[in-house]
Amino acid sequence: MSVNRMESSIATSVSIEILEKQLDVASTEAAKSFMSTIDIMESLISTNERFYEGSHCRFIATKSALIAQQLGFQGYEVFEIQTAALLHDIGKIGFPDYISSKYYSEFTNEEQKIYYKHPELGKQLLSQNSNFDSIGDIILQHHEKVDGSGFPYHLSGSEIHIGAQIISVVDFYHNAVFRRKRDRTQMTDSSLSAINGTALVAQSQKRSTQAVQYLLSKKKTIFNQEVVDLFVHLVEYDRDNLSEQTILRCSVHQLSDDMIIAQDYYTTYGLLIVAKGEHVKEHVRNALIKFANNGEVPPKILVMR
Ligand SMILES: [Fe+2]
Ligand SMILES: [Fe+2]
Repeated sequence: MSVNRMESSIATSVSIEILEKQLDVASTEAAKSFMSTIDIMESLISTNERFYEGSHCRFIATKSALIAQQLGFQGYEVFEIQTAALLHDIGKIGFPDYISSKYYSEFTNEEQKIYYKHPELGKQLLSQNSNFDSIGDIILQHHEKVDGSGFPYHLSGSEIHIGAQIISVVDFYHNAVFRRKRDRTQMTDSSLSAINGTALVAQSQKRSTQAVQYLLSKKKTIFNQEVVDLFVHLVEYDRDNLSEQTILRCSVHQLSDDMIIAQDYYTTYGLLIVAKGEHVKEHVRNALIKFANNGEVPPKILVMR
């Protein structure tokens, strides 16, 4: 090879190297901005989630990712399903308070029409960034049912993205077990202390059994059969496994990432802050510190390790 050609070849490989580095930096930056966009949207939803203090989205995302993995999905596919689960109700942002605080069965016809739009609104919101295209598609379908009785497009069976079918199962369970009606008669200070935390925990265990029974009874009509079986297995696994851990009482300020919450904690209004089985993460710790400072949860809580 002539010196000139060698120099030109070296120059080419160097420039390719530089280009690759630049691309690396660019894609890392794009990934960072993508992730921070997701974080911002998650906190927006958590703020809007009047019933669960953010616990709902976290639960759906964690369990959906586990089911996706068990179904054989990997890497980015799992990430997409997990992110769609985290943001599944983003289309409800901006719903008026009187809709957010009602059960579906309490909606008027007009309110139902607004509610039915939230999957499409979610897809629309995310369509501004092409990175969210498939996440938006999953969100668009999260209320479709296997038998075609869902909305907005009455898709059925395999027409529905598997991510949406997973979210549908986990979302049903969490709503059935943890969603509480915000009873306006209980909002006076004098009646707040009357809500019994132990009774709420016992009630949530009973609700869990009922929700599992319902999922099993509808696994060939409304829900995806394989997803229901995997999810029920997860619920049973959590129940059996968590009971074998050492339980200790720990100050909310000293909670560490190797701990698991040992019982459901609610605000005095009966809204779930953290559920039994949730891993302690920074946002969990921050929420508990906030509510402990308000006197809504004890300064020391039960955790497992
Ligand atoms: Fe929804
Ligand atoms: Fe939901």
